[in-house]
Amino acid sequence: MKRIPSVLALLLGVCVSRLDAQSGSQAPGASNDAAVPSLASLYQRFFPIGAAVDPQTLVTQENLLATQVNSLVAENDMKWERIHPRRGNAPSSYNFSGADAIVAFARAHGMRVRGHTLVWHRQVPGMVFRGDKGPATRTDVLDRMKDHITTLLTRYKGQVYCWDVVNEALSDDGGWRTDSPWFEAAGADENGDGIPDYIEKAFEFARQADPSALLFYNDYNIESGAKLEAAVKLVKALKEKGLVDGVGIQGHWSIFGPDAGTIRDAIERFASLGMQVQITELDLSVFVWGDNSSLAALPPDLARRQAAQYDALFKVFRDESGAPGSSRAGQPGRLTGVTFWGIADDHTWLDSFPVAGRKNWPLLFDTSQKPKPAFWAVAKW
Ligand code: XIL
Repeated sequence: MKRIPSVLALLLGVCVSRLDAQSGSQAPGASNDAAVPSLASLYQRFFPIGAAVDPQTLVTQENLLATQVNSLVAENDMKWERIHPRRGNAPSSYNFSGADAIVAFARAHGMRVRGHTLVWHRQVPGMVFRGDKGPATRTDVLDRMKDHITTLLTRYKGQVYCWDVVNEALSDDGGWRTDSPWFEAAGADENGDGIPDYIEKAFEFARQADPSALLFYNDYNIESGAKLEAAVKLVKALKEKGLVDGVGIQGHWSIFGPDAGTIRDAIERFASLGMQVQITELDLSVFVWGDNSSLAALPPDLARRQAAQYDALFKVFRDESGAPGSSRAGQPGRLTGVTFWGIADDHTWLDSFPVAGRKNWPLLFDTSQKPKPAFWAVAKW
């Protein structure tokens, strides 16, 4: 594999994607032509196929979304910083414009909506944790959290069927994420049930606000090791109180791993606790974690490797769906959804993470919104 310096790669990447776009005779999103099947239809008997969107991609990727997925999640527009954008006046002021647009698009196309995310340490304005004189009190922070959760779940009752109530509360070594401002404000475990108060309260507020919504704990790297054990412990404790229905395994993986067997074991572990399991943010980076080099375009060998990895994962996903004939058919708790963190490589957060400005190609459709080998691996089995 040939590596080139990142600035050059970026320039080349832009040129390549322009060329791609110009050479295509169809408009972006025109892959809803008869030759490209709909994943949502193909996976009807297994689970909904979802994509993360924002108000811009509802326009730039409209055709692709409308034909390929039957579930949406807001990539950013239901997070605190979008819902409470006004400094000084928040958190009591709300702005639902982006979230409403996404929910309306879903309704117009008969799609379901996942809610993401109510309590996370990122993308939440600092003022939520500030009082008149220094840090806000525990009570104030929990009151603001309650107001936020109750308002969102009430507004979207019947339209958002599940919520990632708490996101990424665990650190990679299996401890609590103690540097979260939520933990700092209300991370004690006052009733000694093993659950930090802010986590327990978030689930309680969500349950109260919309008893019909499915409540998820969502995190990354919870498919193995100490973090898996910690997630199992947390979910068990929440389940004993009737506060959690599902676990979201984010699925920000790479074309080099983890292997599908590891994912299968994790799904079965959570399912054995009575949890629904969903893959909530699937994308497969073409770079190994820690490799900060760049590529001008996606080399065919990596595109093939990506297809093979998607193929192996979706074999497990179909099997774990509980569809008739699968290994978990009829058992409680199972894989009930797969959501991609985007739909085509023209819009992916991995272009800015973990290396700002480095092009990545993690999704099933290319920068011109045409199907990649990875798409065919998922669509044909
Ligand atoms: C990411 C978005 O994709 C970016 O646009 C934003 O700048 C940062 O957040 N885990 C999550 C998601 O739970 O909310 C994150 O989304 C990706 C990692």
